[in-house]
Amino acid sequence: MTRKSTKSRSMELKYLILKPLGYPLKASYSEYPVIDNPKVFERYAKDQWKGELVSKGKMLFDIRLFPDFAFEVINAEPESGIVGESTVIVVESLSKPFETEIVKDVTLDDVVGQDEAKKKGRVILEFLKNPKKFGKWAPKNDLFYGPPGTGKTMTAKALANEASVPFLSVKATKLIGEHVGDGARRIHELYDRARQLSPSIVFIDEFDAIALDRSYQDLRGDVSEVVNALLTELDGIQKNDSICTIAATNRVDLLDSSIRSRFEEEIEFRLPDYEERLEILRKNFEDFPIKVKANFEEISKHTEGFSGRDIVEKIIKSTLHKAIADGKEAIETDDLIEFVVRIKSPSRQPPKQMFV
Ligand SMILES: Nc1ncnc2c1ncn2[C@@H]1O[C@H](COP(=O)(O)OP(=O)(O)OP(=O)(O)O)[C@@H](O)[C@H]1O
Ligand SMILES: [Mg+2]
Repeated sequence: MTRKSTKSRSMELKYLILKPLGYPLKASYSEYPVIDNPKVFERYAKDQWKGELVSKGKMLFDIRLFPDFAFEVINAEPESGIVGESTVIVVESLSKPFETEIVKDVTLDDVVGQDEAKKKGRVILEFLKNPKKFGKWAPKNDLFYGPPGTGKTMTAKALANEASVPFLSVKATKLIGEHVGDGARRIHELYDRARQLSPSIVFIDEFDAIALDRSYQDLRGDVSEVVNALLTELDGIQKNDSICTIAATNRVDLLDSSIRSRFEEEIEFRLPDYEERLEILRKNFEDFPIKVKANFEEISKHTEGFSGRDIVEKIIKSTLHKAIADGKEAIETDDLIEFVVRIKSPSRQPPKQMFV
């Protein structure tokens, strides 16, 4: 492959996120290259690709050690720009359980209710935009807890978007490895990447999987290994590491109290009330693909106990798909109620407790 330098006046990229694709041709000796040291790889990558104009979907070819090995640009900030000296380059890897996203499509205004989280969110935003101001008073880690589908992930992503920082996410279950040392290594790799991209947000979902109270743990060394590594990272985050960690769980009651105490704040996410359900309905019917002639007050009245996700995914989306499949031109109240009733039907409810 020949190297083409693009002399364009495009903006220099801030971040470039790549995924290894592979060679154009497969030979028995073709091995999957493993990045040994992300910092050294970044230098190596810049030496080859400096001046290159890239955008999402484009391929970049290695021209040195693994000639013609292709990487796909899976994200870039701005969406199109040139690779420059200050571009931070990371490569997502199949062997690493975490993902790096540049979030664009969700803001705190999209999150209905959850005022406590939004208030704390403003502090986190101020910190990520202006880390020096905070020094040792920086907000470093928070625990989001509450029922499924209430906006925990959405809020964490909105913070990353509004602060214009990368969003590193991982499911705690994926941190537990097969071999001793896997979990601790993954945590350290996660925070190495967070430092490389700093300021950044680390989001650890399904946190209960690693932070269970000891009485619930079947004394698996690998789980406590992950937690110890995480606590070491949280303690070690220096004054100048602008990394904010958010852990999320549905079951805060099951968490180990000593781990809970390491989080500076626990923020509860609640199921939406009548007004909030109404707002979720209104927001989601803006720019809707087909006509809507529904009474939102009626739907909100009938959806007590539903989460935001239930309303969006199980009611609005299902109703839309059915309407399209049936060739309908508009959605009416009854079409939505049909799915509300389905969700409420006894066969979908958890079994009642035998002993009260
Ligand atoms: N408070 C809310 N305001 C607006 N939309 C919401 C809200 N809560 C949930 N939703 C809708 O539900 C979707 C799923 O929410 P999200 O993934 O943030 O829930 P979660 O709390 O992280 O759930 P889980 O505990 O299962 O991970 C959102 O993308 C959004 O469409
Ligand atoms: Mg979530």
